[in-house]
Amino acid sequence: MNIANPSQESVEALAAEEFPVAGRHVYLNHAAVSPWPERARRAMRAFADGVTEDGSLHFPDWQAKDAELRQRLQRLVNAESTDHIALVPNTSAGLSLVASGVKWQPGDNVVITDSEFPSNRMVWEALADRGVKVREAACTPAGSADCEGSVLGLVDQRTRVVSVSSVQWGTGLALDIGRIGRELAGTPTAFCVDAIQSLGAWPLDVRAIGADFVAADGHKWMLGPEGLGVFYCAPEWLEELQLRQWGWHMAEPLGDFEARDWRPAATARRFEPGTPNTPANHALEASLAVLQEAGIANVAERIAVRVEHLIQGLNRLPEVAFLSPTDPARRAGIVTARFGDRTEAVYEALRRNNVQVLPRAGGIRFAPHFYNSLHGLDHALNVAADALRR
Ligand SMILES: Cc1ncc(COP(=O)(O)O)c(C=O)c1O
Repeated sequence: MNIANPSQESVEALAAEEFPVAGRHVYLNHAAVSPWPERARRAMRAFADGVTEDGSLHFPDWQAKDAELRQRLQRLVNAESTDHIALVPNTSAGLSLVASGVKWQPGDNVVITDSEFPSNRMVWEALADRGVKVREAACTPAGSADCEGSVLGLVDQRTRVVSVSSVQWGTGLALDIGRIGRELAGTPTAFCVDAIQSLGAWPLDVRAIGADFVAADGHKWMLGPEGLGVFYCAPEWLEELQLRQWGWHMAEPLGDFEARDWRPAATARRFEPGTPNTPANHALEASLAVLQEAGIANVAERIAVRVEHLIQGLNRLPEVAFLSPTDPARRAGIVTARFGDRTEAVYEALRRNNVQVLPRAGGIRFAPHFYNSLHGLDHALNVAADALRR
């Protein structure tokens, strides 16, 4: 395959060879927990064999894999360098680094949207005892509100952080995060993005959108294992964000366990207090290799085609009401729809017929990835149509 610019045929071949899940299910739960590509399974198995048979003898290889993973993540978000990438257990941990590390004053506020996943609300609400208020911008119903305008309209001189999801978990609304970041650039307000519902599926350029922080877990659109995510920290915040967790792995010099005059690493490793999740590093590196080989722009385009296919097909069904945006500019990889009082019956029929979806935001959430076949989506649409005829 020409990795710099893979043809549609080679992306199709990669999709066919890497996803055994497609032979068992029409899997549309990538907004929840994704199946791994074959390559991630092989990487994890090889790691397990090595550690089972030889303990930590392959430690230098583990370090090399750690470095490769950081390079992939740096490219994925276009960070300045791997010095700005930390490996964290999940999105919530990344967001908590920001919430616990900003130097808050009583009377400060944080702006979020009214449809955030609890992780990107609770971390800020937990600052109430320090006198920090949370302001929620009107972003529902998805597609009707000027979400970005509403976010920016709530920002004032006491707003220390704006923290939004790039894509809302339930309604699937894709925010124009570039617009928010550009407006905040040069102001004292930091811009934090929960990118778990888009990273891996859509290109992200942290510098172009002016993000100060980005957090995302690997188990959704990055097709990786649970328990490993990425945290991006912009250069001007590396020293500024207060550290609240401590351990040997974040120290300089690294690995000198006798040193008494340690200091936190100058890089984002300062946010990684202890032993890395080495098994997960192997799997996530392999998952990202598949996505980057396909090309993130191709992945995004293919997801958009699948989302369009679902919207067109669902639109032909009786009683359908979309809770996710139908405007292409506002869509991501999530289609959420209701079917009046038949919603539960449709959901049950889909599950009975091997279509993996979840009830979310009052509807059924369909979240296809680049490898899903259009034929599989047609199966899902036919099952839904049948359930509505009964
Ligand atoms: C937008 C959003 N943020 C955060 C999370 C939770 O992330 P984590 O488990 O990685 O902390 C989810 C999970 O569904 C989510 O959709």
